[in-house]
Amino acid sequence: MILLQAENISHKFDYPLFNNINLTLKTNESIAIIGVSGSGKSTLLHILSTLLKPDSGKVTLLERELNSLKTKELVDIRRNRLGMIFQSHYLFKGFSAYENLEVAALLSNEKIDDTLIERLNIQKVIMQKVTELSGGQQQRVSIARVLTKKPNIIFADEPTGNLDSETAVDVMKLFDEYIKNHTAGMILVTHDEQLALKCSHVYRLEDEKLIQVK
Ligand SMILES: Nc1ncnc2c1ncn2[C@@H]1O[C@H](COP(=O)(O)OP(=O)(O)OP(=O)(O)O)[C@@H](O)[C@H]1O
Ligand SMILES: [Mg+2]
Repeated sequence: MILLQAENISHKFDYPLFNNINLTLKTNESIAIIGVSGSGKSTLLHILSTLLKPDSGKVTLLERELNSLKTKELVDIRRNRLGMIFQSHYLFKGFSAYENLEVAALLSNEKIDDTLIERLNIQKVIMQKVTELSGGQQQRVSIARVLTKKPNIIFADEPTGNLDSETAVDVMKLFDEYIKNHTAGMILVTHDEQLALKCSHVYRLEDEKLIQVK
C-alpha cells in the first residue's frame, strides 16, 4: 500500500527551496532525507506531514488528497494516523514523562506499551517531570509518546540528534521493528549518513531537487 505520495511539490520562502519534487512512501519502508543545513529538509517534512501548504503540488496521505480534506478530517488524521517527532520535543512540560504517554494513549485510544518504555531505557525516569529530564531523555520520551499512538506514518526530524551513537542505533532498530510489524512507514530527516543508510531509501535535497542516493 502507498502511505504517502507527493507530486510536483514546489516551495519557496525568501529564495526557492525545491521544485517539482516527487516522493512515494510504501508500507514497511523507511525513507531518509539528507542535505546541507538550510536546504529545506524540515520545510519539506512540514509539507509532507500536513503542517504547511506547498506553493504548488499535491500530497496524498493514506489515499486521501490533503487539499480535499476538511479541517476535522485533517485533525483526525494528524491525531490518529501520523506520528511527528520534531527538532523541539513538544512534550507537556508540567507533566511527568508517563503522563505524556497517558495523554497520547487517551487521545488515540491505544494502550501504553511497557516494553517500549524499557526499549527506550526511560523506565527509571518515567515518573519524573519532563523539565527534570536531560535532552536525550526528553527525546526518547517523545519517541515513546509518538509510538504509543500507533501511527501509520512517522515523520522524524533529527530524532536522534541528542543521543549518543549507540543509543541512536538502538532507536533506529526500534523504528525499523515498528514499521515492519505495523501498517506503517517512516520519513526521517537526518545529518547522520550512517543512520540514513539504515533506511530502505535515501534521498539528498540539493540544488532544489531530491536526488535518490539509495
Ligand atoms: N516560516 C519560514 N519563513 C521564512 N523562511 C523560512 C521559514 N521556515 C524556513 N525558512 C527558510 O527556509 C530555508 C530552509 O529551512 P529548513 O528549516 O527547511 O532547512 P533544513 O534543511 O531543515 O536545515 P537544518 O539542517 O539546519 O535543520 C532556510 O533558509 C530558512 O530560513
Ligand atoms: Mg531542519
